[in-house]
Amino acid sequence: MIDLNRARAETPGVNHVTHFNNAGAALIPQPVLDAVTGHLNLEARIGGYEAEARAADAVGRTYDAVAALLNCRREEVAIVENATVGWDMAFYGLAQTFAAGDRILTSMAEYSSNYIPFLQVAGRTGAVVEAVPNDGHGQLDVDALAGMIDGRVKLIAITHIPTNGGLVNPAAAVGRIARRHGIPYLLDACQTAGQMPIDVDELGCDMLSATGRKFLRAPRGTGFLYVRKTLLERLEPPVLDNHAATWVAPGRYEIHADGRRFENWESNVAAKIGLGVAVDYALGWGLDAIWDRVRNLGDLLRSRIAPLPGYTVRDLGEVRCGIVTFTGPRPPAEIKALLAEQGINVSVTKAASTLLDMNARGLTEMVRASVHYYNTEDEIDRLVEALT
Ligand SMILES: Cc1ncc(COP(=O)(O)O)c(C=O)c1O
Repeated sequence: MIDLNRARAETPGVNHVTHFNNAGAALIPQPVLDAVTGHLNLEARIGGYEAEARAADAVGRTYDAVAALLNCRREEVAIVENATVGWDMAFYGLAQTFAAGDRILTSMAEYSSNYIPFLQVAGRTGAVVEAVPNDGHGQLDVDALAGMIDGRVKLIAITHIPTNGGLVNPAAAVGRIARRHGIPYLLDACQTAGQMPIDVDELGCDMLSATGRKFLRAPRGTGFLYVRKTLLERLEPPVLDNHAATWVAPGRYEIHADGRRFENWESNVAAKIGLGVAVDYALGWGLDAIWDRVRNLGDLLRSRIAPLPGYTVRDLGEVRCGIVTFTGPRPPAEIKALLAEQGINVSVTKAASTLLDMNARGLTEMVRASVHYYNTEDEIDRLVEALT
């Protein structure tokens, strides 16, 4: 059970806004804010490099916290600027070996920043991108995926929870297929991290990317990549610097054996510390408890919007998360603006972010209202009243 009073007392933003844009960026909790501003203050007082040296334990903790979140080893974690950088490192790393006719299997719900690189690599190499069709629930059809596997499939890369709705793709079932055939499996868990439990062994993924600012409630400009130990040392990063590798002789460098190979030297140390504090904060609440509450609030919001005249809830999938999407009697941008006038934050999700899915459903844009555990039933009432 979530202690809602404590959750809200530790979230300064709830005194200013009714925040249903957690899939965009959630409200930062006080301990994260304190950690980030504390480190910035230290940088201002004693110097950036000196502050980092003094905060070495806190920076190191971020790796342990992410490892605990994912059930992996700290060496398998890279801390990067955002989910996209992490995902790119894995994908473009693997793509260095792709050749004409190799197949990349993905999901209908794939995010634009993943699909665009697929297309770029396909254009360069002659590899082909194929989206696994959805089943009757609107989620990735696991049987269809099993039927698509052959010796040319070089990668399965899917999105667990898409940017544009409540869908939770059957990522663990996909993992079992990937393992059975020894195919590398890259999972976009950007909207998953902090919203529901993640266990890379249960999911069976070899690589997983996520961001800090969404359901993990970390500062913007933070993210991470997990790469399974068995793949890590074989996966050459597409770009290198003097942090990812060491220049050991005039004509030679050595790439680090651990997740650092996917990082670069300069980083926002305060934000990196903040990410670790945010992950620990989420672990403190318990991901099972968070997931229970987020799912219940999401279902409640859907059940309240569905009967409103002129509104249609658009979420797909057998299991639905805290991301609620709908269309209404006015264009999504207008609904967003009208809600903003009442201090209610939602966002608009557009076709170009998830083009395969939106085209298949004949949608151009939707309102996205995403709940987190600190939202209240009263806030849902306010939102529904405003929509009405
Ligand atoms: C499903 C999904 N994947 C990836 C991303 C990219 O995350 P980031 O902006 O942290 O790179 C997003 C961002 O909205 C997302 O929703």
